[in-house]
Amino acid sequence: MATTPKILAFAGSLRKDSYNKKLVQIAAAGARDAGAEVTYLDLADLPLPVFNDDLEREKGLPPNGRTLKDLMLAHQGFLISAPEYNSSITAALKNAIDWASRPIPGEAPLACFVGKTAALMSASPGALGGLRGLVTVRAILGNIHVLVLPDQVAVPKAHEAFAPDGTLKDSKQQASVAKLGANLAAVLGKLLG
Ligand SMILES: Cc1cc2nc3c(=O)[nH]c(=O)nc-3n(C[C@H](O)[C@H](O)[C@H](O)COP(=O)(O)O)c2cc1C
Repeated sequence: MATTPKILAFAGSLRKDSYNKKLVQIAAAGARDAGAEVTYLDLADLPLPVFNDDLEREKGLPPNGRTLKDLMLAHQGFLISAPEYNSSITAALKNAIDWASRPIPGEAPLACFVGKTAALMSASPGALGGLRGLVTVRAILGNIHVLVLPDQVAVPKAHEAFAPDGTLKDSKQQASVAKLGANLAAVLGKLLG
C-alpha cells in the first residue's frame, strides 16, 4: 500500500497578517487535495531565542526547539513560504533552521533535514515577490541535504494580491501555488513508494 506523504507547511514570518502565511496555506491545500497529510505550523506559536552556542551549552535545546524538531522529524516534506528581508532569508526562518539543525545526543547529524524534500514560495509587496530571498533559502536547504524542487512561485504586489478569504485574486496564480503543493505531494509519493 502506498505511504501517505506527510508535509509540514510553514512561513518564515512571525507577522500575524503575513502574506507568506496565507500563501503557504494555499499550497498546503493543494498538497492535501493531492493526497498528502499536511500540518500547518505558525512559527510565531513556537518562539525561540536567537541561537547562541552558550545558551545551548548551558540550557540545551529550548522546549519550543524540541517541538519544532519533533514536527520536522515527523514529516518527509516541507512547504515553505519565505519572505525576503534585505534580499535574503528572514531571521525567523534562519533561526528556526539553525535550532532544528542542532543534534541532540544519539541523533544523526541534520536528522530534521537529510532526505527531506521541499517546495519554496514567497510573497512580497515588491515587484519581484521575494524571489531573491528564495535563492538564499534554496542554497541553505540544499547544503543541509534537503532536495528542493526546481519549481517555485513568487507573488509580487502581495498587498494587492489576496482576497479577504486568503485566496489569491488571480486564479492562475492561485492554481500555480496549489499546483506547487500538489507537485510536492506527488514527488514525495514517488519517493516513498
Ligand atoms: C527588515 C525588512 C527588510 C525587507 N526587505 C525586503 C526585500 O529585500 N525585498 C522585498 O521584496 N521586501 C522586503 N521587505 C518587505 C517584506 O516583503 C514585507 O514586510 C512582507 O510583508 C514580509 O512578508 P510577510 O507579510 O509574510 O510578513 C522587507 C521588510 C523588512 C521588515
